Amino acid sequence: MVSVTEQYEAYPYPERDPADEVRRLITGSPSHPLEIDHWLYVGKRDWSHPFRALVAGGGTGDGLIQLAQVLTSARVPHEITYVDLSTAARGIAEARAAARNLTGITFRTGSLLDAPDLGRFDYIDCCGVLHHLPDPPEGFRALRASLAEGGGLGFMVYAPYGRSGVYPLQEAFGALYRGLAPQDRLARAKDIVAALSEGHPFRANVNLGDHHASDAGFYDLLLHGQDRAYSVPDLLDMLDQTGWRLMGFATPALYDLSRITTRPAHLTDAQAMAVAEKLRGTIRVHIAYAVPQGDARQPARGANRALVPRLRGVQARALAQAVAQDKPIPVRQKEAQAILTLPRKAAPLIAAIDGRRSLAQIATAAQVDPLAFGALWGPVERDLVDWGLMLYSGLGAR
Ligand SMILES: C[S@@+](CC[C@H](N)C(=O)[O-])C[C@H]1O[C@@H](n2cnc3c(N)ncnc32)[C@H](O)[C@@H]1O
Repeated sequence: MVSVTEQYEAYPYPERDPADEVRRLITGSPSHPLEIDHWLYVGKRDWSHPFRALVAGGGTGDGLIQLAQVLTSARVPHEITYVDLSTAARGIAEARAAARNLTGITFRTGSLLDAPDLGRFDYIDCCGVLHHLPDPPEGFRALRASLAEGGGLGFMVYAPYGRSGVYPLQEAFGALYRGLAPQDRLARAKDIVAALSEGHPFRANVNLGDHHASDAGFYDLLLHGQDRAYSVPDLLDMLDQTGWRLMGFATPALYDLSRITTRPAHLTDAQAMAVAEKLRGTIRVHIAYAVPQGDARQPARGANRALVPRLRGVQARALAQAVAQDKPIPVRQKEAQAILTLPRKAAPLIAAIDGRRSLAQIATAAQVDPLAFGALWGPVERDLVDWGLMLYSGLGAR
């Protein structure tokens, strides 16, 4: 078997060129500071306080660079520790940080299992890593032990149904190519994948594209020597066993059974999410936030009118215009598509979202009284937050 370290030395993942940093910032979930604030700090973190973060299994640096760049641009004092087993991946992450003049990052080569020796952190990012450990619960426990009081975890682990077709190929290639170097495995596996018949579950799975993106992507998807996926019940069990509690999935709508069909009363919340995952069938990864068990924190909610709503991937003006004209709002994500219909009278509220105003200020700007505001804002929040199009955070709002 090619070990995890050998794989990521040969094929640092994801494949990135530090020269590209001058022309774009890769953003996403988990670990955008707005998302961290919303899910872990009730939307009201005081960003004048230093932020200590661990990027565990940081790879070539996507999550790291996003976090460091957004905090730097917002002038938030921060200390970020990056740790990864692969020196090749670290080299690329370091070069990307240097290209952006990002300081405040300490780079380490090592295992996240030693996270408690690296310090205590307000936030831990662990994206696409825990499912590659020989004993994933050990990783979740190590991260829990390195979390500071009041902190939280943003993570991604693989999900089974959206990855249909992957595991039989991984197993077949593992059996076929025992003893071969990573480069030889790649060349041979590519030939086989190119010749798969149309009906092969992997070829038929339109949810997956990493194998087309790069050699590192192909290797990571189909030749990994240590890889497993977690269904919703498996994931909730593992969090429970390792001292964590799920705060929420980054796109809750995907797991909301009532958005797919009538939710029967006999299903618990966990069972309903498990059924939704099966009905969707397209979820390849679970992106979620977690806090320590026993921590009563809840995600941000607009019942607190001091919160500042922030739109993501959608413009306030364009959205407000569409709502004012009673136009349906299409949501197109890889995992699901939906049509949102927001109340026409909410259009002035949406138009007043500028990344600075609080909900109370939005109500005043739109000349809507508090009672009417509550009735209009409820459906806006439900749809936009649940589809990941809106978050609450005061980061950079002043
Ligand atoms: C799929 S990549 C994900 C990289 C990055 N987090 C991202 O999302 O772009 C997995 C990374 O985890 C690292 N890794 C795997 N096991 C690890 C461990 N026990 N400790 C630290 N890093 C680990 C690998 O070297 C690799 O760089």
